[in-house]
Amino acid sequence: MKKLVKPRKTREIHSHHFDSTIWNDLEFRDDDIIISTYAKSGTTWMQQIIAQLLFDGDPDVPVADMSPWMDLRVPPKEIKLPFVEAQDHRRFLKTHLPVDALQFSEEAKYLYIGRDGRDVVWSLYNHHVNANQAWYDALNETPGRVGPPIERPPEDIRQYWLDWFQGDGYPFWSFWENVRSWWEIRDLPNVLFVHFSDLKRDMPGQIRRIASFLDIPIDDSKWPAILEHCSFEWMKKNGEKSTPLGGAFWDAGAEVFINKGVNGRWADILTVIESSEYEQKAKAELGSECSNWLANGGALSIG
Ligand code: A3P
Repeated sequence: MKKLVKPRKTREIHSHHFDSTIWNDLEFRDDDIIISTYAKSGTTWMQQIIAQLLFDGDPDVPVADMSPWMDLRVPPKEIKLPFVEAQDHRRFLKTHLPVDALQFSEEAKYLYIGRDGRDVVWSLYNHHVNANQAWYDALNETPGRVGPPIERPPEDIRQYWLDWFQGDGYPFWSFWENVRSWWEIRDLPNVLFVHFSDLKRDMPGQIRRIASFLDIPIDDSKWPAILEHCSFEWMKKNGEKSTPLGGAFWDAGAEVFINKGVNGRWADILTVIESSEYEQKAKAELGSECSNWLANGGALSIG
């Protein structure tokens, strides 16, 4: 059995999106739930699943308001911290940071959701290309922004892919260090890995697995409602509750954020060589076991 090492904060990350220092000032509660992904990997889906479990399938839970993205610079931590401190329900907070830029609690429960990098970028492109001026203003004009502003994306999705792949996550943040940092702590008892493809393949099974990890009993009479409210169709139709700011950053609204919910949309656009360059890079950056899991999902072997 591998020795389990508690992660340690080694750095702060600041950018047009990030202010990692918020975690230094958060007073953890023992029952906190932290949802982590690189981005565009099913974060909102997991927030919805947890809200449905915590609130017994209530369709009206204002998920996005309740479950803020802690390390997003907007609104600043002076507003966000008192807000989450005042919450009297079980908290479920979102992060997109690598583990070593967080403060890690031994009691809180961490869910990490993985998705193939190509699917992530196809989702990211949709997120970015549809963002409106309010999104650019919020990110670029926010006091304390560090580094260059976020620019408008190129029209061509292949070019967007190349910029991201060759630029280590440009214009967002490094993909490899995010996945690798979480992978290294996957065996900790308070960490659960979930894959987007497994959620697609067997959502009921994955929801039961998540509920068991979080010690949330399921009321069987509420089970059909929970499943319905976590389905793609329901979430797309009711996206204003789960999408950040009700979708105000996208002129087409929340429906554009809950976009297609499928994988593999890159397969007709990237060449075989480009795809295989990604696969080789994933293996070199993450190792075979992790890169295989990231591409396909499936159960993890116990370390
Ligand atoms: P696509 O853009 O590929 O459609 P995040 O919340 O991390 O930003 O991830 C957004 C992605 O999750 C989007 O992917 C969105 O459609 C997908 N998603 C959200 N809810 C979903 C659901 N219930 N079923 C399937 N996919 C879902």
